[in-house]
Amino acid sequence: MSQSVLSPTTVIAELQRLAAERAGRLQLLQSAAAKIREAGEPYTGVYMYMLNDDSLVLEAFDGRPTEHTVIPVGSGLCGRAVAENSNINVGDVGQSEDYIACSVETKSELIVLIRRDGQILGQIDVDSDTVNGFNEVEEAAVQKVADCLASII
Ligand code: SME
Repeated sequence: MSQSVLSPTTVIAELQRLAAERAGRLQLLQSAAAKIREAGEPYTGVYMYMLNDDSLVLEAFDGRPTEHTVIPVGSGLCGRAVAENSNINVGDVGQSEDYIACSVETKSELIVLIRRDGQILGQIDVDSDTVNGFNEVEEAAVQKVADCLASII
């Protein structure tokens, strides 16, 4: 298996440092978004949507702003991931009927769920300007960050 562009250990080390300093939830989510995007291509934008009843609420992001700050469960790719209790990796968003566009530049999207004890807390939604931006190795790297967040937020 090739190595991931994203180094989860680097992101997790920073999150654990912040958690030890008693950083709040928003600071942890914001830091995770910024640190993931720092990995560069294919990580164009990182959006932390957290589950609140039947909606996903954008609590932090790094990259292009989006007008989609609240997404109902079941809507868009983000809402589908929650409804299906599954990560979603779409190589070409132009081919997806569910896709809600945030930017015309976005070509692919990876959604990784943040779960604690099997319960969905939210998700890390990553956009890329590259078609097929994320492979299984990147998904596994993002999942490690999501699992870390689940234990500290
Ligand atoms: N593309 C997402 C919406 C979120 S923005 O991309 C940040 C979706 O289809 O649910």
